[in-house]
Amino acid sequence: MKLFLDTANVEEIRTVASWGILDGVTTNPSLVAKESRSFEEILREVCGLVDGPVSAEVVSVEAPAMIAEGERLARIHPNIYVKIPMTTEGLKATRALRSKGIRVNMTLIFSSLQALLCAKAGASFVSPFIGRLDDHGETGMELIEEIVTIFRNYKFTTEVLVASVRHPIHVKEAALLGADIVTMPFSVFEKLPRHPLTDLGLERFLKDWQKVPKA
Ligand code: G3P
Repeated sequence: MKLFLDTANVEEIRTVASWGILDGVTTNPSLVAKESRSFEEILREVCGLVDGPVSAEVVSVEAPAMIAEGERLARIHPNIYVKIPMTTEGLKATRALRSKGIRVNMTLIFSSLQALLCAKAGASFVSPFIGRLDDHGETGMELIEEIVTIFRNYKFTTEVLVASVRHPIHVKEAALLGADIVTMPFSVFEKLPRHPLTDLGLERFLKDWQKVPKA
């Protein structure tokens, strides 16, 4: 299972990359807007820090403009995956970018039928937003289960990228369901290595070690 950071903050990416277990990065226009830097500058730096897919989202809404914008983003670095929103224009753009050899992450997925269409259009990743479904009074994880089942039924190679993650339980449940990738904010990622019993256990080991006679 691949673990991605959902951020445009280079310091957060640098920190998790230094742990040696970061597989990729996803960004979106809202995350980029939090940084006071140009999108291209951020993407170039991120691609230098992470050896894996880096998602960069288009802001055009008509297919021809999405395609042109996607081509521009893809030229920045070979690891760029163009993020395209789930609309009929987005499906057209995904098909066209795919035929040019550009990989696409289709985003804003809230139903398994939307995910099925993304797979048929040739998306490399689909990004279901589970936290926003939970916020809306639905069970986001049920969507992951449906998409994983449909993709397995038809042997689609499109990977399920679980997005809009709010807490570590989302990560565990996605792993149990066999999702390919989870992308999460730094606030969730930094909780994954921690457990209070690990800290307590280490403290005890180090304290007891003081009692061992030194040679
Ligand atoms: O990057 C897309 C997704 O992860 C957004 O999450 O927290 O804004 O629902 P959120």
